[in-house]
Amino acid sequence: MTNHTRLSPETHVKLATLRGRFMPRKCFVEMSDAIHNLEDRRRAEISQGLHPEARGLAVIGNSGSGKSTGVAHFFKKSDTLSLLADGHETADVASFLVPSPATLKGVGISCLSGLGYPLMRDRTAGIIWELVQSHLSELQVMFLHLDEAQDLMGSQSEREMLAVVNTLKSVMQNRHWPVSIILSGLPDLLTLLNLDPQLGRRFTPIQFDQLDEIDDGRQIRSLLEQYCSAISVDLEPELRSDDFIARLIHSAASEFGILIEIVIGAIEICLRRDETILGKHHFVAEFLRRTGCANDLNPFVRTNYSAINPRRLLPSSKDVSLDVVPPRKPRKKK
Ligand SMILES: Nc1ncnc2c1ncn2[C@@H]1O[C@H](COP(=O)(O)OP(=O)(O)OP(=O)(O)O)[C@@H](O)[C@H]1O
Ligand SMILES: [Mg+2]
Repeated sequence: MTNHTRLSPETHVKLATLRGRFMPRKCFVEMSDAIHNLEDRRRAEISQGLHPEARGLAVIGNSGSGKSTGVAHFFKKSDTLSLLADGHETADVASFLVPSPATLKGVGISCLSGLGYPLMRDRTAGIIWELVQSHLSELQVMFLHLDEAQDLMGSQSEREMLAVVNTLKSVMQNRHWPVSIILSGLPDLLTLLNLDPQLGRRFTPIQFDQLDEIDDGRQIRSLLEQYCSAISVDLEPELRSDDFIARLIHSAASEFGILIEIVIGAIEICLRRDETILGKHHFVAEFLRRTGCANDLNPFVRTNYSAINPRRLLPSSKDVSLDVVPPRKPRKKK
Protein backbone atom coordinates (compact mmCIF):
# COMPACT_ATOMS: atom_id res chain seq x y z
CA MET A 1 0.00 0.00 0.00
CA THR A 2 1.34 3.45 -0.82
CA ASN A 3 2.00 6.08 1.86
CA HIS A 4 2.10 8.91 -0.63
CA THR A 5 -1.33 10.50 -0.95
CA ARG A 6 -0.70 14.25 -0.99
CA LEU A 7 -1.89 15.90 2.22
CA SER A 8 -3.82 19.14 2.26
CA PRO A 9 -2.06 22.27 3.55
CA GLU A 10 -4.42 22.22 6.58
CA THR A 11 -3.32 18.69 7.46
CA HIS A 12 0.33 19.73 7.13
CA VAL A 13 -0.34 22.58 9.53
CA LYS A 14 -1.95 20.14 11.99
CA LEU A 15 1.05 17.80 11.73
CA ALA A 16 3.44 20.70 12.24
CA THR A 17 1.49 21.66 15.37
CA LEU A 18 1.79 18.07 16.57
CA ARG A 19 5.56 18.14 16.01
CA GLY A 20 5.78 21.40 17.95
CA ARG A 21 3.88 19.94 20.92
CA PHE A 22 5.95 19.41 24.07
CA MET A 23 5.23 16.53 26.45
CA PRO A 24 6.84 16.98 29.87
CA ARG A 25 8.45 13.96 31.55
CA LYS A 26 9.65 13.45 35.12
CA CYS A 27 13.26 14.14 34.14
CA PHE A 28 12.18 17.41 32.49
CA VAL A 29 10.45 18.46 35.72
CA GLU A 30 13.61 17.56 37.68
CA MET A 31 15.72 19.62 35.30
CA SER A 32 13.31 22.56 35.51
CA ASP A 33 13.40 22.49 39.32
CA ALA A 34 17.19 22.39 39.30
CA ILE A 35 17.46 25.39 36.93
CA HIS A 36 14.87 27.36 38.91
CA ASN A 37 16.88 26.69 42.03
CA LEU A 38 20.12 27.94 40.45
CA GLU A 39 18.29 31.00 39.11
CA ASP A 40 16.72 31.92 42.47
CA ARG A 41 20.03 31.48 44.23
CA ARG A 42 21.91 33.62 41.73
CA ARG A 43 19.30 36.39 41.77
CA ALA A 44 19.47 36.52 45.57
CA GLU A 45 23.28 36.75 45.40
CA ILE A 46 23.17 39.49 42.75
CA SER A 47 20.70 41.48 44.86
CA GLN A 48 23.23 41.39 47.68
CA GLY A 49 26.16 42.27 45.40
CA LEU A 50 27.68 38.85 46.04
CA HIS A 51 29.41 36.73 43.42
CA PRO A 52 30.33 33.36 44.91
CA GLU A 53 31.21 30.60 42.46
CA ALA A 54 28.35 29.23 40.40
CA ARG A 55 27.14 25.64 40.03
CA GLY A 56 26.31 23.76 36.87
CA LEU A 57 23.98 21.11 35.50
CA ALA A 58 24.78 18.20 33.23
CA VAL A 59 21.78 16.98 31.25
CA ILE A 60 22.69 13.51 30.11
CA GLY A 61 20.85 11.01 27.90
CA ASN A 62 21.15 8.87 24.80
CA SER A 63 20.53 10.21 21.33
CA GLY A 64 16.80 10.84 20.89
CA SER A 65 16.04 11.03 24.60
CA GLY A 66 14.92 14.66 24.23
CA LYS A 67 17.77 16.65 25.84
CA SER A 68 18.03 19.46 23.29
CA THR A 69 14.25 19.78 23.00
CA GLY A 70 13.85 19.75 26.80
CA VAL A 71 16.45 22.45 27.51
CA ALA A 72 15.27 24.65 24.62
CA HIS A 73 11.63 24.31 25.70
CA PHE A 74 12.47 25.22 29.29
CA PHE A 75 14.26 28.43 28.34
CA LYS A 76 11.68 29.39 25.71
CA LYS A 77 8.81 29.02 28.17
CA SER A 78 10.53 30.59 31.18
CA ASP A 79 8.74 33.74 32.37
CA THR A 80 11.77 35.05 34.19
CA LEU A 81 14.77 34.15 32.04
CA SER A 82 15.46 36.09 28.85
CA LEU A 83 17.26 34.44 25.95
CA LEU A 84 20.09 36.13 24.09
CA ALA A 85 18.52 38.05 21.19
CA ASP A 86 19.67 40.62 18.63
CA GLY A 87 19.39 44.19 19.80
CA HIS A 88 19.01 43.37 23.51
CA GLU A 89 21.59 44.78 25.86
CA THR A 90 21.31 42.00 28.43
CA ALA A 91 20.33 38.33 28.44
CA ASP A 92 19.96 35.77 31.20
CA VAL A 93 20.70 32.78 28.98
CA ALA A 94 23.15 32.17 26.14
CA SER A 95 22.75 28.79 24.44
CA PHE A 96 25.20 27.40 21.88
CA LEU A 97 25.94 24.19 20.05
CA VAL A 98 29.46 22.88 20.59
CA PRO A 99 31.07 22.78 17.15
CA SER A 100 32.45 19.43 16.03
CA PRO A 101 35.32 18.70 16.16
CA ALA A 102 35.50 20.80 19.31
CA THR A 103 38.71 22.51 20.33
CA LEU A 104 38.90 24.90 23.24
CA LYS A 105 39.61 27.73 20.82
CA GLY A 106 36.82 26.69 18.40
CA VAL A 107 34.23 26.58 21.18
CA GLY A 108 35.41 29.97 22.45
CA ILE A 109 35.11 31.45 18.94
CA SER A 110 31.54 30.05 18.58
CA CYS A 111 30.57 31.51 21.96
CA LEU A 112 32.08 34.89 21.07
CA SER A 113 30.30 35.07 17.75
CA GLY A 114 27.06 33.81 19.37
CA LEU A 115 27.39 36.60 21.92
CA GLY A 116 27.48 39.02 18.99
CA TYR A 117 31.19 39.77 18.82
CA PRO A 118 33.44 39.52 15.78
CA LEU A 119 35.53 36.42 15.14
CA MET A 120 39.12 36.65 16.36
CA ARG A 121 40.74 33.58 14.91
CA ASP A 122 44.25 35.01 15.32
CA ARG A 123 43.99 35.15 19.14
CA THR A 124 44.98 32.35 21.49
CA ALA A 125 42.34 30.17 23.18
CA GLY A 126 43.20 31.87 26.50
CA ILE A 127 42.53 35.37 25.17
CA ILE A 128 39.34 34.26 23.38
CA TRP A 129 37.95 32.77 26.60
CA GLU A 130 38.86 35.90 28.56
CA LEU A 131 36.82 37.86 26.03
CA VAL A 132 33.95 35.36 26.33
CA GLN A 133 33.96 35.86 30.10
CA SER A 134 34.02 39.62 29.85
CA HIS A 135 31.12 39.61 27.36
CA LEU A 136 29.11 37.22 29.53
CA SER A 137 29.57 39.69 32.35
CA GLU A 138 28.71 42.71 30.19
CA LEU A 139 25.49 41.02 28.99
CA GLN A 140 24.80 39.82 32.56
CA VAL A 141 24.34 36.24 31.39
CA MET A 142 23.49 33.88 34.26
CA PHE A 143 23.41 30.62 32.28
CA LEU A 144 25.72 29.43 29.52
CA HIS A 145 24.19 26.35 27.86
CA LEU A 146 26.40 24.19 25.65
CA ASP A 147 24.58 21.45 23.71
CA GLU A 148 26.36 18.38 22.29
CA ALA A 149 28.84 18.89 25.11
CA GLN A 150 30.23 15.36 24.80
CA ASP A 151 32.16 16.77 21.83
CA LEU A 152 34.16 18.87 24.29
CA MET A 153 36.11 15.74 25.04
CA GLY A 154 35.90 14.17 21.54
CA SER A 155 39.17 12.63 20.51
CA GLN A 156 41.27 15.22 22.28
CA SER A 157 44.47 14.65 24.20
CA GLU A 158 44.30 14.62 27.98
CA ARG A 159 46.10 17.98 28.01
CA GLU A 160 43.45 19.57 25.79
CA MET A 161 40.69 18.03 27.90
CA LEU A 162 42.21 19.44 31.08
CA ALA A 163 42.33 22.85 29.40
CA VAL A 164 38.58 22.50 28.71
CA VAL A 165 37.96 21.50 32.34
CA ASN A 166 39.95 24.47 33.65
CA THR A 167 38.14 26.86 31.33
CA LEU A 168 34.70 25.64 32.44
CA LYS A 169 35.79 25.99 36.06
CA SER A 170 37.08 29.50 35.51
CA VAL A 171 33.77 30.60 33.94
CA MET A 172 31.89 29.32 37.01
CA GLN A 173 34.44 30.72 39.47
CA ASN A 174 34.88 34.15 37.91
CA ARG A 175 35.15 36.56 40.84
CA HIS A 176 33.35 39.44 39.11
CA TRP A 177 30.61 37.57 37.25
CA PRO A 178 30.33 33.78 37.80
CA VAL A 179 28.15 32.01 35.23
CA SER A 180 26.29 28.70 35.70
CA ILE A 181 27.09 26.27 32.93
CA ILE A 182 24.49 23.83 31.62
CA LEU A 183 26.01 21.05 29.57
CA SER A 184 23.74 18.70 27.62
CA GLY A 185 25.03 15.67 25.81
CA LEU A 186 25.50 11.94 25.47
CA PRO A 187 26.63 9.84 28.45
CA ASP A 188 30.29 10.25 27.34
CA LEU A 189 30.03 13.72 28.83
CA LEU A 190 30.35 12.11 32.26
CA THR A 191 33.93 11.15 31.42
CA LEU A 192 34.79 14.83 31.08
CA LEU A 193 33.13 15.70 34.38
CA ASN A 194 34.77 12.77 36.14
CA LEU A 195 38.18 13.79 34.85
CA ASP A 196 38.48 16.37 37.58
CA PRO A 197 36.78 15.99 40.97
CA GLN A 198 36.72 19.78 41.38
CA LEU A 199 34.68 20.11 38.20
CA GLY A 200 32.53 17.05 38.90
CA ARG A 201 31.36 18.27 42.28
CA ARG A 202 30.22 21.57 40.80
CA PHE A 203 27.78 19.83 38.41
CA THR A 204 24.47 18.18 39.26
CA PRO A 205 23.68 15.40 36.78
CA ILE A 206 20.14 15.13 35.39
CA GLN A 207 19.52 11.90 33.53
CA PHE A 208 17.07 11.84 30.60
CA ASP A 209 16.52 8.16 31.18
CA GLN A 210 15.22 5.38 28.97
CA LEU A 211 11.56 4.46 28.90
CA ASP A 212 10.29 1.61 31.00
CA GLU A 213 7.07 -0.28 30.25
CA ILE A 214 5.99 -0.29 33.87
CA ASP A 215 6.93 3.26 34.83
CA ASP A 216 6.03 4.95 31.55
CA GLY A 217 3.29 2.74 30.05
CA ARG A 218 0.48 4.93 31.33
CA GLN A 219 2.04 8.16 30.04
CA ILE A 220 2.64 6.60 26.63
CA ARG A 221 -1.01 5.47 26.35
CA SER A 222 -2.15 8.95 27.29
CA LEU A 223 0.31 10.47 24.79
CA LEU A 224 -1.12 8.28 21.99
CA GLU A 225 -4.64 9.38 22.92
CA GLN A 226 -3.72 13.06 23.09
CA TYR A 227 -1.89 13.05 19.74
CA CYS A 228 -4.75 11.21 18.01
CA SER A 229 -7.40 13.44 19.50
CA ALA A 230 -5.43 16.58 18.50
CA ILE A 231 -5.60 15.48 14.88
CA SER A 232 -9.10 13.94 15.00
CA VAL A 233 -8.00 10.35 14.44
CA ASP A 234 -9.33 7.37 16.45
CA LEU A 235 -7.10 4.85 18.17
CA GLU A 236 -7.47 1.13 17.48
CA PRO A 237 -8.08 -0.58 20.88
CA GLU A 238 -5.07 -2.88 20.31
CA LEU A 239 -2.76 0.14 20.58
CA ARG A 240 -3.62 0.43 24.28
CA SER A 241 -2.44 -3.13 25.03
CA ASP A 242 0.69 -3.84 27.10
CA ASP A 243 2.11 -5.81 24.18
CA PHE A 244 1.80 -2.90 21.74
CA ILE A 245 3.23 -0.38 24.21
CA ALA A 246 6.22 -2.69 24.83
CA ARG A 247 6.79 -3.00 21.05
CA LEU A 248 6.50 0.76 20.62
CA ILE A 249 9.08 1.37 23.36
CA HIS A 250 11.42 -1.19 21.82
CA SER A 251 11.06 0.24 18.32
CA ALA A 252 12.11 3.63 19.76
CA ALA A 253 15.24 2.11 21.38
CA SER A 254 13.51 3.05 24.67
CA GLU A 255 14.05 6.78 23.98
CA PHE A 256 11.19 9.22 24.56
CA GLY A 257 11.92 11.59 21.68
CA ILE A 258 12.25 8.76 19.17
CA LEU A 259 8.95 7.29 20.40
CA ILE A 260 7.20 10.59 19.75
CA GLU A 261 8.71 10.78 16.26
CA ILE A 262 7.40 7.26 15.53
CA VAL A 263 3.90 8.10 16.80
CA ILE A 264 3.75 11.23 14.63
CA GLY A 265 5.15 9.29 11.66
CA ALA A 266 2.47 6.59 12.06
CA ILE A 267 -0.25 9.26 12.28
CA GLU A 268 1.07 10.88 9.11
CA ILE A 269 0.90 7.54 7.27
CA CYS A 270 -2.67 7.04 8.52
CA LEU A 271 -3.63 10.48 7.17
CA ARG A 272 -1.84 9.92 3.86
CA ARG A 273 -3.88 6.75 3.41
CA ASP A 274 -6.98 8.78 4.09
CA GLU A 275 -7.87 6.59 7.07
CA THR A 276 -9.43 7.75 10.31
CA ILE A 277 -8.35 5.01 12.75
CA LEU A 278 -4.71 4.73 13.79
CA GLY A 279 -3.75 1.05 13.82
CA LYS A 280 -0.73 -1.19 14.29
CA HIS A 281 -0.20 -1.46 10.51
CA HIS A 282 0.60 2.28 10.41
CA PHE A 283 3.40 1.68 12.92
CA VAL A 284 4.66 -1.27 10.86
CA ALA A 285 4.82 1.06 7.85
CA GLU A 286 6.47 3.87 9.83
CA PHE A 287 9.22 1.57 11.15
CA LEU A 288 9.83 0.35 7.59
CA ARG A 289 10.01 3.97 6.38
CA ARG A 290 12.47 4.99 9.12
CA THR A 291 14.81 2.03 8.94
CA GLY A 292 14.19 0.26 5.65
CA CYS A 293 13.82 -2.96 7.68
CA ALA A 294 11.51 -5.66 6.35
CA ASN A 295 8.99 -7.46 8.55
CA ASP A 296 11.40 -9.99 10.05
CA LEU A 297 13.30 -7.03 11.57
CA ASN A 298 10.24 -4.98 12.46
CA PRO A 299 9.41 -4.92 16.21
CA PHE A 300 5.73 -4.31 15.39
CA VAL A 301 5.61 -7.60 13.47
CA ARG A 302 8.18 -10.03 14.78
CA THR A 303 7.18 -12.30 17.68
CA ASN A 304 10.62 -12.26 19.31
CA TYR A 305 11.08 -8.53 18.76
CA SER A 306 13.37 -7.96 21.74
CA ALA A 307 16.23 -9.47 19.70
CA ILE A 308 16.01 -6.65 17.15
CA ASN A 309 18.32 -3.65 17.36
CA PRO A 310 15.91 -0.80 16.50
CA ARG A 311 18.73 1.70 15.90
CA ARG A 312 20.08 -0.20 12.92
CA LEU A 313 19.18 0.93 9.43
CA LEU A 314 18.77 -1.87 6.91
CA PRO A 315 20.65 -4.44 9.03
CA SER A 316 21.74 -7.76 7.61
CA SER A 317 20.21 -10.94 9.04
CA LYS A 318 23.24 -11.60 11.23
CA ASP A 319 22.37 -8.47 13.23
CA VAL A 320 19.34 -10.23 14.67
CA SER A 321 21.06 -11.68 17.66
CA LEU A 322 20.67 -10.91 21.32
CA ASP A 323 24.07 -9.28 21.56
CA VAL A 324 23.06 -6.41 19.27
CA VAL A 325 20.22 -5.24 21.50
CA PRO A 326 21.02 -1.77 22.88
CA PRO A 327 21.62 -1.56 26.64
CA ARG A 328 18.46 -1.04 28.68
CA LYS A 329 17.52 -0.61 32.26
CA PRO A 330 16.69 -3.92 33.98
CA ARG A 331 12.94 -4.59 33.85
CA LYS A 332 11.09 -4.00 37.10
CA LYS A 333 8.62 -6.53 38.45
CA LYS A 334 4.98 -5.46 38.48
N1 LIG B 1 9.26 16.25 25.60
C1 LIG B 1 9.06 16.15 24.28
N2 LIG B 1 7.83 16.40 23.76
C2 LIG B 1 7.63 16.27 22.42
N3 LIG B 1 8.59 15.92 21.54
C3 LIG B 1 9.82 15.66 22.01
C4 LIG B 1 10.13 15.76 23.39
N4 LIG B 1 11.41 15.43 23.58
C5 LIG B 1 11.90 15.15 22.36
N5 LIG B 1 10.96 15.29 21.41
C6 LIG B 1 11.14 15.05 19.98
O1 LIG B 1 12.06 13.97 19.86
C7 LIG B 1 13.05 14.21 18.89
C8 LIG B 1 14.43 14.01 19.48
O2 LIG B 1 14.64 14.95 20.53
P1 LIG B 1 16.04 15.70 20.75
O3 LIG B 1 16.63 16.11 19.44
O4 LIG B 1 15.78 16.74 21.76
O5 LIG B 1 16.90 14.52 21.37
P2 LIG B 1 18.41 14.59 21.92
O6 LIG B 1 18.42 13.87 23.20
O7 LIG B 1 18.89 16.00 21.92
O8 LIG B 1 19.17 13.73 20.82
P3 LIG B 1 20.68 13.90 20.26
O9 LIG B 1 21.60 13.45 21.37
O10 LIG B 1 20.73 12.99 19.08
O11 LIG B 1 20.89 15.35 19.92
C9 LIG B 1 12.79 15.59 18.34
O12 LIG B 1 12.13 15.41 17.09
C10 LIG B 1 11.82 16.25 19.31
O13 LIG B 1 10.90 17.05 18.66
MG1 LIG C 1 20.40 17.00 20.91
